[in-house]
Amino acid sequence: MRMGKLKKRALNIADLRELARKRLTKALFDFCDKGSEDQVNLRANRTALDNIKLMPRMLRDVSKRDPGISLFGKDHALPLIIGPTGPAGFVWYRGETELARAAARANIPFTVASTSNTPLEDIYRNGGGTQWYQLYVWQDIEASLVTAKRALDAGYEALVLTVDSPVYNNREIDIRNGLKFPPTINARTALDVIRHPRWLFGTLARYYIAEGRLPAFSNIHIPDEQKSNAKTYVSASTKGFLNRNETLDWDFVKRLRDFWPKKLFIKCVLHPEDAATAVKCGVDGIFVSNHAGNVNDSAITAWDALPAISDTIGGKAIIIADTGVRRGSDVLKGLALGADFIAVGRATLYGLAAAGEAGATRALEILESEIRRTMAIMGVTHISDITRDHIRLPADLPVSGHASLTSQ
Ligand SMILES: Cc1cc2nc3c(=O)[nH]c(=O)nc-3n(C[C@H](O)[C@H](O)[C@H](O)COP(=O)(O)O)c2cc1C
Repeated sequence: MRMGKLKKRALNIADLRELARKRLTKALFDFCDKGSEDQVNLRANRTALDNIKLMPRMLRDVSKRDPGISLFGKDHALPLIIGPTGPAGFVWYRGETELARAAARANIPFTVASTSNTPLEDIYRNGGGTQWYQLYVWQDIEASLVTAKRALDAGYEALVLTVDSPVYNNREIDIRNGLKFPPTINARTALDVIRHPRWLFGTLARYYIAEGRLPAFSNIHIPDEQKSNAKTYVSASTKGFLNRNETLDWDFVKRLRDFWPKKLFIKCVLHPEDAATAVKCGVDGIFVSNHAGNVNDSAITAWDALPAISDTIGGKAIIIADTGVRRGSDVLKGLALGADFIAVGRATLYGLAAAGEAGATRALEILESEIRRTMAIMGVTHISDITRDHIRLPADLPVSGHASLTSQ
């Protein structure tokens, strides 16, 4: 879809979500869109953001506004990062590279997921911009470190270790939809695939024609003797090599700190003591995140966790927060709660699924214009000027705060 048409059809992230829903199979869309178990955490992330109210200041000259911010000595245009989303290369042909290009165009960092399917060296080379690599540690720790070393050799500037998934998440919706990675077409899934010809021909068949293969987890290093244990990757029922590692502890973080010479992040931290331990282990930053509501359906939201974490490690390490961000105002709320940067997953993934690089670019354009507009109506000219005084939490709100507690 051309950018002109996209601009008319997608005024906001919800419009991009709808375009993605139409193009993807139901199983793949649900994988991108839904969370684990009863979707409680997914809803809580939005409710938490919706319940935070902005406290605008008036009569400040806001004619020159700059949402830019620097990180590790580089200037970025927005306080945003594209977080890792495993299915990017499944929703669009070589989607990881398209996302990287959209991030580079917007001058923000992009994170490649462990379960991406385009070779990580190709993404780095062809995507450009600032790129980080996200690491899952599988049963075989040494094999996982082989991938980390590849990322280092390819040039990735930071490693992001995701730590909230010692076991697979319980995504009942994927089991019901018959979803498997790598994708399989069988009697159960064929109708869903046939009903979505734009995805079938534009993505799945394109891999087959251009590369003679279906999309797969090509960046996970699987030693030869383990190949028979690593055929498919399905949520809870997976057995063998692709099981996550249940033994990881802070000693592994120290080991990784010695192993990885560049910037190191720990992703999906929610407790301030864990954040403090991460800093003691020498990490450069953390992602305060509940992983898109994908893992622990009863977990605290990043937004509820942020103030205590910011009080504990603010100024000592970079704090990135995510989950549920769909509007520029959400970004400002997260910064006011103490984050240095905000990550997005679905916003750009919906854009990518709808229209590749152009769709992801559109998602970032929408967020940028909303951030700029919200800065103006908040009376803020620089991102660094946003403080906790720019928000009010439900407990501070004498009428609606009380109402939102009693109405649930
Ligand atoms: C479909 C999907 C796949 C994801 N895959 C990964 C992953 O492979 N590794 C990871 O650390 N986080 C993963 N995440 C979490 C994102 O990095 C990020 O924390 C989350 O998407 C932010 O929430 P949002 O999607 O509401 O913006 C995934 C999220 C989604 C929606």
